[in-house]
Amino acid sequence: MGNQDKINELIEKRAKAKLGGGEKRIDSQHAKGKLTARERIDLLLDDNSFEEFDMFVTHRTKSFGLDKEIYLSDGVVTGHGTIDGRIVYIFAQDFTVFGGSLSETYALKICKVMDMAMKIGVPVIGLNDSGGARIQEGVRSLAGYAEIFQRNIMASGVIPQISSILGPCAGGAVYSPALTDFTIMTDQTSYMFVTGPKVVQSVTGEIVTAEQLGGATIHSTKSGVSHFLAEDDKENLLIIRKLLSYLPSNNLEDPPTITTSDPIDRLDDVLNTIIPESANQAYDILDVISTITDNGEFLEVHRNYARNIVVGFARFNGRSVGIVANQPKFYAGVLDSDSSRKAARFVRMCDAFNVPIVTLVDVPGFLPGTGQEYGGIILHGAKLLFAYGEATVPKVTITLRKSYGGAHDVMSCKQLRGDLNYAWPTAEIAVMGAKGAVEVLEGSNISKIEDAIEKLHYIEEKENEYNTKFANPYVAAKYGFIDDVIEPRNTRFRIIRALELLANKKEVNPPKKHSNIPL
Ligand code: HXC
Repeated sequence: MGNQDKINELIEKRAKAKLGGGEKRIDSQHAKGKLTARERIDLLLDDNSFEEFDMFVTHRTKSFGLDKEIYLSDGVVTGHGTIDGRIVYIFAQDFTVFGGSLSETYALKICKVMDMAMKIGVPVIGLNDSGGARIQEGVRSLAGYAEIFQRNIMASGVIPQISSILGPCAGGAVYSPALTDFTIMTDQTSYMFVTGPKVVQSVTGEIVTAEQLGGATIHSTKSGVSHFLAEDDKENLLIIRKLLSYLPSNNLEDPPTITTSDPIDRLDDVLNTIIPESANQAYDILDVISTITDNGEFLEVHRNYARNIVVGFARFNGRSVGIVANQPKFYAGVLDSDSSRKAARFVRMCDAFNVPIVTLVDVPGFLPGTGQEYGGIILHGAKLLFAYGEATVPKVTITLRKSYGGAHDVMSCKQLRGDLNYAWPTAEIAVMGAKGAVEVLEGSNISKIEDAIEKLHYIEEKENEYNTKFANPYVAAKYGFIDDVIEPRNTRFRIIRALELLANKKEVNPPKKHSNIPL
């Protein structure tokens, strides 16, 4: 074979590899509204930046007739490329080859990508679309998954790991995405479950569809497994690009900063009137967020899950921050188990990747009741408390309105190493609301009053007294728990100045093997 023939052979092999499981299966993938692995990579990465490796890897299984069914790449496309000019490693499962199922060699390819990403200190992105363990490979496939899990665990908190779910993801295979920082699911074409509908029916008798059991909507609203719900593959991949723009490449770097044309001293008069006159009236915290961030931009994480708290990424004067904010529009912004877990995970992720945290507080307290207590609100609330107290990134807290009881402490208060704690003049920082306080403190006096009108007047008088004395920011400010009471319209500027001040903050936790967060 002459040199040119050898080159031609290479070109042919490459072309064959790029066809994956063949034209027919590619057509079938398209017919389902899905893109192929290579199309996804091309869409995700900067133009012409993808460099593939292990294209010539094939499986080693001889039984079940597989020795006659061999595909170059073996069902997963791996390599590296750039996103906004920054290096990322990637693997994309190719459903056209054995339904994207995972073989021993396929797992080795993914592990290589993960090892390289760790060595270099760059994010790893997994595009999942797979029928799970390759049945013909048996336990070698299970071992392959475990090799990946171990690497997910070691990479956690070192490099960002992002999982897109763009098709099936079932059985133990779900645990790799679950171990990563973010999971993004595509509506209608992706699903995740530990056991599929057939097993569910045979074990429990319950009849459910794949969509009802583990579709993108379920995991974005009920379980919280998915951080984002994308309309289609294209949007799914766009979310990855957006997410990475807020994150550093690894835990030793700071997130990228960008220049912004949004003035740092922009005054937002609307904020001076955004808090309703009545304490029971709601407003949308997203309106506050979009008023203060650079260009009003906010990448909300877990948008449809535990909506009484809002978390997501934004920028202040080009600096990336994580925002955690109670949402008065849903359940009055109360803290419950789900919202505590949601926020705790976000706070820890920000801390792991050096993203400062801005906390906007308007919280009436923890949700009372047996439902919450039986569900372990004590432990879940403790997660958020722990996450804030452990975090060493810059922490700026603004109390807009309510900040009551245990929830006050949890929401990044001064004593949990809040670096700068500001309050609006509308803030109410106290042990409990006036109504509850009067019931507890005045209960015996109230019961002695026989006349109903007189009783109401007494209660009203005591509640007013309590409100005047305690439901304001000045008691906390008197003790230095609040560093300053600020005019609402000046919030953007004060946050920017705080973040600049704290840019070189150094805070170190005592050496330990690891903490024992109440899981
Ligand atoms: C080998 C598989 C496969 C698998 C699919 N295929 N799953 N090959 N191992 N796990 C092959 C099919 O034979 C078919 O080959 C092609 O992929 C496409 O599959 P279809 O069934 O035609 O596609 P579709 O109708 O879209 O259904 C997709 C599917 C279904 C829902 C994923 O294939 C399915 O249920 N597969 C089995 C899923 C499963 O039980 N996996 C094991 C889970 S347990 P041809 O040649 O016809 O194109 C697990 C343990 C992990 O994964 C443990 C980790 C700790």
